[in-house]
Amino acid sequence: MSRKLITELKEKINKYDHAYYVLDDPLVADAVYDACYQRLVQLEQQNPDLVTSDSPTQRVAGVPISKFKSVKHRKPMLSLDNAFSAEDFSNFDKRIRTKFSTDSIEYSAEPKLDGVAINLLFVNGYLHNATTRGDGITGEDVTHNIRTLKSIPLKLFGNDIPHEIEIRGEIYFPKDEFTKLNNDLHELGKKTFANARNAAAGSIRQLDAKVAASRPLRLSCYAIGYCSQDIGQKHSDILQLLVSWGLPVSVYNRTLVGVDACLDYYKYMLGIRADLPYEIDGIVYKVNTLVLQDKLGFVARSPRWAIAHKFPAHEEQTTLEAVDFQVGRTGQVTPVARLQPVMLGGAIIRNASLHNFAELARKDLKVGDIVLVRRAGDVIPEVVAKSSSSAKPQALVDIIPPKACPVCGTKLVKESEELLRCPAGLSCPAQLKGAILHFVSKGAMNIDGFGDSTVSLFVEQGLIGSISDIFFLTFDQIRSQEGFADLSAQKLLDNIRSCKKVSFAKFLYALGIREVGKVTAMELARNYSSIDDLMQASITDLLRVDNIGPVLAKHIHDFFREESNQKQIASLFSSGLIIEIEDITIKDQTFIDYTVVITGKFSGYSRDELKDILLSKGANVVSTVSKKTTHVIVGDSPGSKLKKAQELGIQIISLDDIKDLLD
Ligand code: IVH
Repeated sequence: MSRKLITELKEKINKYDHAYYVLDDPLVADAVYDACYQRLVQLEQQNPDLVTSDSPTQRVAGVPISKFKSVKHRKPMLSLDNAFSAEDFSNFDKRIRTKFSTDSIEYSAEPKLDGVAINLLFVNGYLHNATTRGDGITGEDVTHNIRTLKSIPLKLFGNDIPHEIEIRGEIYFPKDEFTKLNNDLHELGKKTFANARNAAAGSIRQLDAKVAASRPLRLSCYAIGYCSQDIGQKHSDILQLLVSWGLPVSVYNRTLVGVDACLDYYKYMLGIRADLPYEIDGIVYKVNTLVLQDKLGFVARSPRWAIAHKFPAHEEQTTLEAVDFQVGRTGQVTPVARLQPVMLGGAIIRNASLHNFAELARKDLKVGDIVLVRRAGDVIPEVVAKSSSSAKPQALVDIIPPKACPVCGTKLVKESEELLRCPAGLSCPAQLKGAILHFVSKGAMNIDGFGDSTVSLFVEQGLIGSISDIFFLTFDQIRSQEGFADLSAQKLLDNIRSCKKVSFAKFLYALGIREVGKVTAMELARNYSSIDDLMQASITDLLRVDNIGPVLAKHIHDFFREESNQKQIASLFSSGLIIEIEDITIKDQTFIDYTVVITGKFSGYSRDELKDILLSKGANVVSTVSKKTTHVIVGDSPGSKLKKAQELGIQIISLDDIKDLLD
């Protein structure tokens, strides 16, 4: 009796989940759903031997896992080549038509969802495991999180299911839910996500399934990987099968013949993009006939039978309400636009970069102007140009570059048309705060517990006047500050003590020498046996180090000549800081065979950051495209390097293709 009831309830709940999460068409009221669910929980408690792995009650695991397992995909997870214009797509189509001597090709056209790729392995219809893309060959097992997504059936519907099948799709975070999550995180004083994709990735890469379970993640399936039998002749047949098995597949997928139909579809999707409840960043066209796909094959990591036609960056108009001048860690003053809040690419934008003073002058902006704001992926939004003036000319306010540091009042130095700098160094509170935040940051000394507000408080209260003061803080000093109790003061003190041993490279990076990133710090540590050695180095000596040019050599040299810096370093060592000698050869070989050129702007990374990461993972990063170049990484608004790479037939990839390898 119970057995039959349990089976019926399971089927009912699975049907309700499918209607709600896959078809977006709920069948019953929440109360009815909850009643069924509770009844099932009750019956299963009474009959524990009747609990099966596909029961809706088995979605959330009890205890967090301790680490992610690596799992090899049965078939590699590939990435896509990009088309940045209609012409690029036409060329792609022409290549294929020529190869098959035909007038037109049938494509499966699909929205390119901006989320994280997932591989779902079903064995005998049951969800066996779920893995991230990883390096395309091996991914991380995130089954515990994926099981919590009600849009994913734990058992596929129907009877005619292949014995083993890998199903591929994109996990995404709906736009509205993303805004809500960020508002909630903001209210709780927690770090917010830069965009919906990062929120999806962050939720999937959690050890505790409760986090993913609390996030309204969705799935859209777009392909299969390995399959133990042939299941169709066309890609569109496969998508149809996925739908029949209860899996979510985009309702916007179309089968289209020829370039014109594809470009019309692109325009249509671009037109509705802003109204979709999720982020899409382009259209994927796939040659529909599987036999033709096989004949076309692959180049490196992407198929020759598919291409992603990217959408342009998001742009919106809004009013420039004010311009503030921010002082960075090195004293550089940057103009920042304060905007009337505007929704852009799934996030509310209040501030945008104005880059530098030359740009500000060139754009001829005034407070009160209507400006065009652009955001590509999760890059910091920027003011592109003035669109018009909303106010009467007399109501517009000129933007005048400051003469004195807005934080400490010291007269600014004009280093170039672009650059104003506050020369006060660490006696300027903004630079001191910046230097300390950098010193304690993860890639540097990695001292936990020093957030923005604690550093500001300690600097303002005069507890910290220099970097080394951190190591001389006492329990009583910390305890006397607002927000600290015995336990929290002791914890911060313990954190500081436990970080007194550090690698030479991290120590050098932590010092905050101008333009010395993690990779340069590593190169320096590799080439000098001690800090004394490095402090004595002449510019000529420094120029012998790989990747160090004249400007960088001068910055390093000047830093160690400066008396206050010498005192800082002496003081750090007198506080008990110890440099650990370790093998600092590059261990991560992810990009060891890559000779890379980077062009354009990128989501979430400055070009320098991207370069640093690639170098630290073994790549050779060069600035000009040549025959030796193996990959060109192309961002938004790429330069002439893209053309050169196309001419030379060098593989062009986007950040998307390698984003999973950058962590
Ligand atoms: S097909 C063999 N179709 O884009 C082709 N990918 O840059 C493999 N993506 O890793 C991908 N929507 O995460 C395909 N309709 C779609 C897609 C899609 C989003 C993502 C996917 C992939 C990346 C490729």
